[in-house]
Amino acid sequence: MKVGILTGGGDCPGLNAVIRAVVRKGTYQYKDEFVGFLEGWRGLVEDKTMPLDLSAVAGILPRGGTILRTSRTNPAKKENGLDICIATLKRHSIDALVAIGGDDTLSVAKKLFEKGLKVVGVPKTIDNDLAGTDYTFGFDTAVNVATEAIDRVHTTAEAHNRVMVVEVMGRDAGWIAIHSGVAGGADVILIPEEPFDIERVSETIRQRHATGRYFSIVVVAEGAKFASGNNNQSPVLQDLGKDEFGHARLGGIGNTLAHEIESRTGFEARTVVLGHIQRGGSPSAFDRMLATRYGLAAIDMVHEGKFGFMAALRGNKLISIPLAEALAKNRTVDQEMINVANGILATLTDERQPATK
Ligand code: F6P
Repeated sequence: MKVGILTGGGDCPGLNAVIRAVVRKGTYQYKDEFVGFLEGWRGLVEDKTMPLDLSAVAGILPRGGTILRTSRTNPAKKENGLDICIATLKRHSIDALVAIGGDDTLSVAKKLFEKGLKVVGVPKTIDNDLAGTDYTFGFDTAVNVATEAIDRVHTTAEAHNRVMVVEVMGRDAGWIAIHSGVAGGADVILIPEEPFDIERVSETIRQRHATGRYFSIVVVAEGAKFASGNNNQSPVLQDLGKDEFGHARLGGIGNTLAHEIESRTGFEARTVVLGHIQRGGSPSAFDRMLATRYGLAAIDMVHEGKFGFMAALRGNKLISIPLAEALAKNRTVDQEMINVANGILATLTDERQPATK
């Protein structure tokens, strides 16, 4: 078969490992040929391709980013964009397409499937917020980067008697914040799922400092929101622009929070925004393995005719699920994980209320 591959949306450590696994198994076991479409869906809209054979994927396993590059292009927003994509695939005699991406990229894959395209999906996002799969690749690397940063921030916070606020990625889901916050021993963890009361956060820090501690670490997801009354429950935005899928650019909650904490508690506060450092660089061993398994599953799905499906991890098994199921909702942090954080964080002495909000 002749198979197209693309990577769309924000990049993610492990993308190259998926591409490599698809091409290696497809070439060795199925005698497939491959075409790489560049820069996500833009590659189909503008017919930008690269040859993808064994030599093109040699040495890419430990490399971050994606050799196919990526973009947040949404063909559904362009006139006849979806039909143009299908025409490009026809022109290249593509039999099937492997689309590697998060909910935005896979929502386009689903639309094209409904128009008759033979497409399989591979879930990708450091945010780990795709439904139907337990883990997306890239998440583990991002958590490791954030945890190491929190460890480093700890020693400088301790040296200066400061409150350090660490802002991590996580637009709608606080998976990175809660995993790195627990693993890094944070004192307060704030996630988008639970709007927080700034006075409770400040009181948690005051009480900690009243009992002999002289520094605190706050981990906040970029999408975390002040509870109503504080800031209308809207996330803090970097600017008013939106991408082609309608997402605003988040960022700034860390600074706002540090300012509020300092003025309410009198303790000196600083902010560290980890941003794209969490997405860059070499994937962890866990992500290389997971991404490889996803790639192998995807090329098997192509040959099993499982079109309109996405590879998914359930427990330790790779399965396939309909794209519609994966896109039906966001996978947000569940109560069990919130209980883990609340179990380990100090609680306020007045009402025994958790600091995780
Ligand atoms: O892909 C998910 C994500 O990493 C979000 O956590 C973050 O809000 C967004 O991408 C940042 O996107 P960009 O790379 O376009 O700034």
